[in-house]
Parts: sequence; structure tokens; C-alpha cells
Amino acid sequence: MSTVTAESAREHRVTIPLLRRAKRRGEKITMLTAYDFTFAQIFDAAGIDILLIGDSLGNVVQGQNTTLPVTLEESIYHTRLVARGAHRALVVGDMPFGSYQVSSEDAVRNAIRFVKEGGAQAVKLEGGTAVFDTIARIVAAEIPVMGHVGLTPQAIHRMGGHRVQGRTEASRQRVIDDAQAVEDAGAFAVVLEGMPVELAQQVTATVSIPTIGIGAGVHCDGQVLVMHDLLGLSDWTPSFVKQYANLGALASQAARSFAEDVTNAKFPDEGHSYR
Ligand code: KIV
Repeated sequence: MSTVTAESAREHRVTIPLLRRAKRRGEKITMLTAYDFTFAQIFDAAGIDILLIGDSLGNVVQGQNTTLPVTLEESIYHTRLVARGAHRALVVGDMPFGSYQVSSEDAVRNAIRFVKEGGAQAVKLEGGTAVFDTIARIVAAEIPVMGHVGLTPQAIHRMGGHRVQGRTEASRQRVIDDAQAVEDAGAFAVVLEGMPVELAQQVTATVSIPTIGIGAGVHCDGQVLVMHDLLGLSDWTPSFVKQYANLGALASQAARSFAEDVTNAKFPDEGHSYR
């Protein structure tokens, strides 16, 4: 779905009906996380279909150990930055821990803030059967919702760490039930995170909404990666990650070269000075 030129990327906004059509046609959907204007512009022009302002913000931007401390204000702020740089991609704001668990009313109020203040076209939240009513209420307020089942980082304390889900029969059934609940509640897509390939394949064949996989194998309708993992900006990456560039090494080299030039009075030279 994302095979576009920079010119055509600006012409056709990715919409919920287009994503549904992509699943029906067997066209793969691409999603990346983004947290600021610069990378939103780059990924949007590259034809990425969905930009997610993930609550991975806590890990990769804020340097926290979990996603739990990320606040609603921080998420909306970063969503606004990304929305400014996205002309084609669907912008999805990730509802942080605490912003949708207290009550459905609270969840709707906070989802509306993502749209009104952040410029998001949809929101994402974690969980399945437990958040059925919450998803249904947000969808009833005309805000498209993306679900997220399997390994759900906001449930790190229940799961006992970032553990692959669906390896026992009970856990497998829970993932299937959760994905079905997300669809039944009216979500337009669902992230499948950290599960065996065959389970993600089964869920993808069962639900009629697009599945977007991360650490869930090749059979999902689309794939998502955290941009810091994609670009080689993370200290550590899980084994399912494919690193497509090493910007960390490039940035480090650039900083060293700058420091060396300044130390040796080679920068600024004539060509980089005013007369
Ligand atoms: O927060 C995030 O980046 C996510 C993706 C991994 C799907 O939820």
C-alpha cells in the first residue's frame, strides 16, 4: 500500500476505508512510530501509511524503563508535532497508561483531546475484552480506534516483563478473544505484539480488520517498528527487529568530527564565516 512517490504521497491521505480495502486486497500496511515534526515529514514523504506517536516515547525519547510514566499532556504534545509533518499518513495517538482505564467517560474525553489538540485522526489503546466498552464509547464519539493485544507494555507488571504471549493454550485463547473483542467493539485495526507467528496468522485470518504486527511474524496485514530500532538509534533491540540504518554511528561520528575541528580551530573556516 505504501509504494508511492513523494509527489503522490501528498495527494492521497490514508483513510480508515483505504486501510480496510488494503486488507481485502492483500496489500501490506506500513506503520512507524514518530515523535517529532522532522521524522514525521521524512516518513510521510517516504510513503509510510500510518504514523503512531507511541507511548514508547517513554523509552526512546524520555529514557524511562517502562511506558507507564508517560503523561497525556506529553503524548498530545508529541502528537501535535507529528501531525504538523504528516500530509499523507494517518496520524494515530497512543493513549498513555491512566488515560483510559479509569472510566469510559474519561477515555472519551481524553481521546477527544488527541483529535482536537493533537491533530490525530485516530487513537490506539491496549487491551481486549477488558476495554471493549471503552473502545465502543470512543468509536461512538466518531474517533477511530486501533486496538493492541498480545504483549501489551502497559501490562508489564501483570505479565512479569516484556514476555512473548500466546505460548500456552490459555494465553493463546486470551489473545484470540482479545483481538475478536477489539474488532467487535468497532476498532478499525489491531496491533499484534510479541506472539508466535502461527498465532498471529490465525488471528489475521479470523478478524476482518487489519492486523499490524510487531514481533508477530510475516502473516500480519501490516508491520510496525519503533523508529529508533529501525534507524539504529537504540542501545538495545529485541531479536525481531531489523535495523535498516545505523544513524547512531553516523551521529556519533559527526559529533566527533565537529569536536575535532573545533579543538583544532578548523571550524568555522572561511567558507563558513561572514564577511
Ligand atoms: O508505543 C509503541 O511504540 C507501540 C508500538 C510498538 C506498536 O505501541
